[in-house]
Amino acid sequence: MPTLRQVRLIGKPVVFTAAMLPLAGLVAGAAGVPAFQLGANPVETIQDTTGIWALRLLLLTLTMTPLGWLTGRSWPLQFRRMLGLFAFAYAALHFTNYLLLDRALDAAEILADIGKRPYVTIGVIALTLLLALAATSTAAARRRLGRRWQALHRLVYAIAILACWHFWWQVKKDVTEPAVYASILGVLLAVRLGRHARLRGYRL
Ligand code: HEM
Repeated sequence: MPTLRQVRLIGKPVVFTAAMLPLAGLVAGAAGVPAFQLGANPVETIQDTTGIWALRLLLLTLTMTPLGWLTGRSWPLQFRRMLGLFAFAYAALHFTNYLLLDRALDAAEILADIGKRPYVTIGVIALTLLLALAATSTAAARRRLGRRWQALHRLVYAIAILACWHFWWQVKKDVTEPAVYASILGVLLAVRLGRHARLRGYRL
């Protein structure tokens, strides 16, 4: 099992580099590197890539605590903050791409979208909540907020549900992919509820 020093010196740089790869692929594609072409609709490719990675990183963040229980070690917890911040960064890029490249900052169109397409409204709510968690993710904010910090950061479950919902709702026909992500989230939530119930002495 890795020591905390190994996590800091090796694990974190490796995870950081891995989390940067999808973004690096997009930048390479935008710069015209042939192996990373963004396809016929680059704006949609950027929208989909940043969206799916925001969701994957959010689910990975939620996997760290159960992984710690499973292994009986604390090292997985060391990755939670970095993964959560990467999830936020990809979601912010996703939103920026929507505002700048997809809607060209056309306020009327954006407002109409929010009213007309409920999955956009859900995305905006998820991103706003994620922003609150990213802004309070520092050790200083944790100390300042005390017990309220824990309560605030439990919102990550609601955010993950909203993100899966957002994904499901924007799919036109085949819901297989969002269903896979929603099932993974379902397992992660069930594991937590199961442990919570066991610790409180409920028989499942
Ligand atoms: C936590 C925040 C968010 C997450 C995790 C997220 C995730 C996703 C995912 C997974 C997809 C589908 C990608 C695919 O098809 O492979 C998607 C699509 C999309 N999202 Fe988000 N999203 C978030 C916030 C937002 C926000 C704030 C907006 C805009 C206001 C937005 C607008 C869109 C649009 C326009 C699409 C593409 C729909 C289409 O292809 O027709 N999302 N998002």
